[in-house]
Amino acid sequence: MLLAPSSNRVYSGAADTLVAAELGVLLGAGGGPVPEIRPTTIAGVPYLSVDQSELDDRLGEAIARLSGLFAVFTRDQQLLIPVQVTPPDLFPDDLVTIPKYPGKTNEQFTRLLVNVTLASIRREPQDSWSLLDPMCGRGTTLSTGLILGHEVSGVEMDLKAIEAYSAYLKTYLRRKRLKHTADMTPVKREGKSLGRRLDVEVTPPTADRTLKLTAFSGDTRQSAALYGKRRFDAVITDAPYGVVHGSHTDVRGVSGKRDRSAAGLLREALPVWSGQLKRGGALGLSWNTYGLSREDLSQLAVEAGLTPLTDGPYLEFGHRVDASIHRDVFVAVKD
Ligand SMILES: C[S@@+](CC[C@H](N)C(=O)[O-])C[C@H]1O[C@@H](n2cnc3c(N)ncnc32)[C@H](O)[C@@H]1O
Repeated sequence: MLLAPSSNRVYSGAADTLVAAELGVLLGAGGGPVPEIRPTTIAGVPYLSVDQSELDDRLGEAIARLSGLFAVFTRDQQLLIPVQVTPPDLFPDDLVTIPKYPGKTNEQFTRLLVNVTLASIRREPQDSWSLLDPMCGRGTTLSTGLILGHEVSGVEMDLKAIEAYSAYLKTYLRRKRLKHTADMTPVKREGKSLGRRLDVEVTPPTADRTLKLTAFSGDTRQSAALYGKRRFDAVITDAPYGVVHGSHTDVRGVSGKRDRSAAGLLREALPVWSGQLKRGGALGLSWNTYGLSREDLSQLAVEAGLTPLTDGPYLEFGHRVDASIHRDVFVAVKD
């Protein structure tokens, strides 16, 4: 596999190990054999290679959905023969790449997080899962979920982010002439305004089924109150990184004061998110390890009734983002 040149910028040069770990999770999920996946250099160009004699359906499908993929070849001694793989995408990737704003989670990384979390669900396999991003910003996870054909829901504290996402989706879907409805409505409980709610239904260009998106403005700790009895197959989110990204990603602790790490917020939010997961559902979180260690995060997850996944590839997603952020991926399942 030739990886997209941009993926090394996203992962600070660690794209090959991260995408290898992603593929390891995708292939290992069903309990089947996992071939050796390793970085290889051919004529001075870095590739990721899989030691398997043929590209069967299982491998082809996993490769086609990978986050950093550019091109696939089979190798016949010194020859590389291009292979057509068909990504499962229902929308073009510009749905998620067009928006640019401070604090946006990188699109390739988001796809990795979505892939790894959905592959970890311990439920009867199905084509379309329900996923919740309880700190969804301007919707990178939600759009990625739609591209991959899932029902998506979100919660975001910053009302302006939900409004901006709504405006973007409306323009995008109209411009692409896709059949859709999109509505923003006020949310009220006992006469009190709780924020706003975005509802979108869209028919992808090549599919005959409709996909649904819901997003509430509000605090993630109120997510269960906002969604009521609804349960999700997956909770997937890129946690705030602390003060480094400016006020947009600031975390507010119980007292309403700023908190330099996401630890306080995660301690309160994990039990809420866990309660919103179906049995066998998976939680996938990316976070800054400088503010909270994996051990402490695991402890919080266990207290919230989740089982952290710790074998092989699950511990190989750590990478540097900048001097103050070392990002990692944490996945846990609800027994
Ligand atoms: C790292 S950003 C996620 C960005 C998002 N993935 C995107 O690409 O737009 C973290 C988000 O968490 C939100 N946030 C922080 N504290 C929150 C809370 N208590 N409840 C809901 N959202 C919160 C921030 O406003 C920010 O949008």
